[in-house]
Amino acid sequence: MANDTVKIPDSFSDARITPDTYRQMYERSIQDPQGFWADEARRLDWIAAPAKISDVSFDKDDLHIRWFEDGVLNACVNCIDRHLETRGNKTALIWEGDNPAYHHAITYRQLFNHVCRFANELKLIGVKKGDRVTIHMPMIPEAVYAMLACARLGAVHSVVFGGFSPDAIAGRIDDCGSDFVITADQGVRGGKGIPLKDNVDRAIERANHEVRGVLVVKHTGAQVDFVAGRDHWHHELALEVDARCEAEPMKAEDPLFILYTSGSTGKPKGVLHTTGGYMVWAAMTHDYTFDHREEDVFWCTADVGWVTGHTYIVYGPLANGATSLMFEGVPTWPGPDRFWRVVAKHRVTTLYTAPTAIRALMREGDEPVKKHDRSSLRLLGSVGEPINPEAWRWYHEVVGEGRCPIVDTWWQTETGGHLITALPGAHALKPGAASFPMFGIQPALVDNEGNRLPDEGEQEGNLVLLGSWPGQMRTVYGDHQRFYETYFATYPGTYFTGDGARRDADGYWWITGRVDDVLNISGHRLGTAEVESALVAHDLVAEAAVVGYPHEVKGQGIYCYVTLNSGLVPTEETEAALKAQVRSEIGAIATPDVIHFTPSLPKTRSGKIMRRILRKIAEGEFDKLGDTSTLADPDVVDSLIETRREMG
Ligand code: WTA
Repeated sequence: MANDTVKIPDSFSDARITPDTYRQMYERSIQDPQGFWADEARRLDWIAAPAKISDVSFDKDDLHIRWFEDGVLNACVNCIDRHLETRGNKTALIWEGDNPAYHHAITYRQLFNHVCRFANELKLIGVKKGDRVTIHMPMIPEAVYAMLACARLGAVHSVVFGGFSPDAIAGRIDDCGSDFVITADQGVRGGKGIPLKDNVDRAIERANHEVRGVLVVKHTGAQVDFVAGRDHWHHELALEVDARCEAEPMKAEDPLFILYTSGSTGKPKGVLHTTGGYMVWAAMTHDYTFDHREEDVFWCTADVGWVTGHTYIVYGPLANGATSLMFEGVPTWPGPDRFWRVVAKHRVTTLYTAPTAIRALMREGDEPVKKHDRSSLRLLGSVGEPINPEAWRWYHEVVGEGRCPIVDTWWQTETGGHLITALPGAHALKPGAASFPMFGIQPALVDNEGNRLPDEGEQEGNLVLLGSWPGQMRTVYGDHQRFYETYFATYPGTYFTGDGARRDADGYWWITGRVDDVLNISGHRLGTAEVESALVAHDLVAEAAVVGYPHEVKGQGIYCYVTLNSGLVPTEETEAALKAQVRSEIGAIATPDVIHFTPSLPKTRSGKIMRRILRKIAEGEFDKLGDTSTLADPDVVDSLIETRREMG
């Protein structure tokens, strides 16, 4: 392993965090958390600075997580107002449209004006502090204005990714009782329109909760329906409102946003983040992990509909007064060199993207990369799933010309920001390793019985975290019991991540992937239970079991075993109908890759589906099925294998 490491380049010898500062700061963050976090909190502007640092219990009957509790601040002010004096004319956002002819830059002063007006428009339609506001937007600056406008008023945003279906939007509106929706007429990606407003209309029809107001941004000019009294054009209200809007003073533990994410069971959960701790974590991790410099052009390629977009397009970079690039399109449109064209055009210094995108681009060969100037790049980042060493090397050597370190950042919607990551000036890199814990983070490994594995030497097991950190989620919106059950019941006293990990002999952490029934499709989380319930909702289906299998580009693909109602013979139409069913219940990202029809599923005598076996069959590892002696009907396995072989 040791000879497989990439040394810290000389260009990072004066990085924010060096090997020595990493050791000292990590040590202090664990030995003297009060002092450490009191100092880190100073990176924000507080209306009332916090004196209390943390108050945390992971106990079943007293589960609570509070940071900087007596502090008062406003997240929007921290992202905008406080920069106006020194950075008013600095570019806050660079927007690159789907169409390469469209781009513009928005300064901090312009951002301030846009957000204040947007907030006043929200007030005009009735939004107040504490209200939940659903945001269903394309990747346009107005999505950022909408989020920050909510934060300015103390309203809680719930961004629902533009690729989700009306049913999925409706479920999220109902779950958080959202009275308001912000959307656009249409989105565009890869030259194709996405009917966002139509989807919102259908979602509102299906939701049980009544939506009172919809604010619509005109983006493409597509024809959309309007409901009088409920729907409002943003560009029309903008003419009626004032350009100034006072920011609401918020307590540190007041909610900032809800973001829905998939778990191993049930419906997606509303992950709740609060104001003070999340903002400290977003700003601190953006600063340290990306070795932030004033002149950086920071490009995080995620969508604002995911947590990566929340923390590393919006809150982290803007809290640090950075220039954040927002890209509406897709990596390979109109040509396979689009990413590199954007890097050259805007002189991007830091590129933060996902292994699935890297693999897809790697397939296009080196030529599309090499024909563009990448001399501006100084740092690369990866997020969303473990990065395979082959993709890591290509990213490092071809994209970064061997010059740019790669920070592989492991974290989750629940964690608010990076928890285990390489830091470019602090550690030699190992391709595929998430490397070392962020300040204050204490990872540990447990076996399946819950026994702690030794903190020394090479170990592999289930990844848990001891203790809290400011960016930790505070609850599952409306279901504190589920918060406990999901994260704290499995290994009491610790936060269970749902991931497996290995710590090597040098102390580097390697994430091995989910150990629960959560799939990772192109870096997007999806519960197998969600796909199963979408399939079973179809009239023809008796039973379904969904597992992941290795997919060359997406990391994991969706493999569905389906049993039709008795007497039915599957056809190509059935297959197409089932795929369409999942798309309409969840969204295109959940479209099954494989549907494997089977007369029955392997079950234990007590009727439990044996997923372990289904996973192995989907992976084509027929000789690694393990113990099949507890199966009620062992013949099922042979017939599944036979069909799998025929499918190739
Ligand atoms: C996976 C995305 C390995 C992991 C930020 C985690 C990763 C889940 C990495 C969270 C990484 C994310 N290496 N695995 N660098 N980053 N994951 O909530 O399984 O969409 O639990 O947050 O993605 O996905 P989520």
